[in-house]
Amino acid sequence: MIVVMGIFAADLTFLTPRLPAWTETIIGSGFRIGPGGKGSNQAIAAARLSAPVQFLAKIGRDEFGAMARGIYEMEGVGTSFLFESADAPTGAAAIIIDDRAGENAIIVVPGAAAMLSTAEIDLAGEAIGRAAVFLTQLEVPLPLVAHGLTEARKRGVTTILNPAPAFALDRDLLALVDILTPNETEAAMLSGLPVTTPEEAERAADVLIGRGAGAVVVTMGAAGALLRRDGRTVMAPAVRAGAVVDTTGAGDSFNAGIAVALSEGRRLEDAIGFACAVAGLKVTRAGAGAGMPLRSEVDALIAAA
Ligand code: RIB
Repeated sequence: MIVVMGIFAADLTFLTPRLPAWTETIIGSGFRIGPGGKGSNQAIAAARLSAPVQFLAKIGRDEFGAMARGIYEMEGVGTSFLFESADAPTGAAAIIIDDRAGENAIIVVPGAAAMLSTAEIDLAGEAIGRAAVFLTQLEVPLPLVAHGLTEARKRGVTTILNPAPAFALDRDLLALVDILTPNETEAAMLSGLPVTTPEEAERAADVLIGRGAGAVVVTMGAAGALLRRDGRTVMAPAVRAGAVVDTTGAGDSFNAGIAVALSEGRRLEDAIGFACAVAGLKVTRAGAGAGMPLRSEVDALIAAA
């Protein structure tokens, strides 16, 4: 079982030829609403990859909250620890996608998800203790991230922190992380070093390991993923599964892939290859949560490689 702690956000996605300037209005080329929020995307991806998963989060009592519950029921995501705020709204995100290059820019407002309490995390303590992996990100406030990681660590559960969006992390927090999974930008921000090549990613990973992280996996887009642990490096190549349609949630699909593979007893060295296949499929589909691939599709892609 996997426990994911994070946020649900309704992704309001706008396709546009360019970003508007302040005070400017432009006409976009498309719009859709779908499930988002890094933690929620990761939980949905894990469920589609056939892993039992519980999502630890907070939503509001509003339409977006109802949308989240409906999706979790359909996807088989456990909601025993999906709490509700009576006053705060469910999270929402503005996703701006360049309609030619497919790149995205995101503004996310966690809303009720930021009101999750340490007491509510404690209610999930027993479930966390039964999990093989505890996976979280930085869309909930740092004290909650630290509390969740502490609960998992004291129960001997493997912890994965996807440090997105990037914030400065102190040594105490990094010491609670078995596997840190930044992208290149996040690795650069966290380490203070440039990260544009595998060699630079290695150096940044060593800085973060020196500050307490157990292992670092840097996702590098088309260059694949780099695992650094115990002074050794393993690279997994990116997997191309078709034309890139939408990269939103690619990192989330990758993190879910690692968590699922580890929960099935695979080694981290193998898990990153599986995660690259999951992400390779995700980017061929529109939507963050909605674009996550099924296990059968990932297995078929790997078998065909
Ligand atoms: O990782 C992609 C996600 O980041 C989006 O779904 C958006 O909601 C933000 O949380």
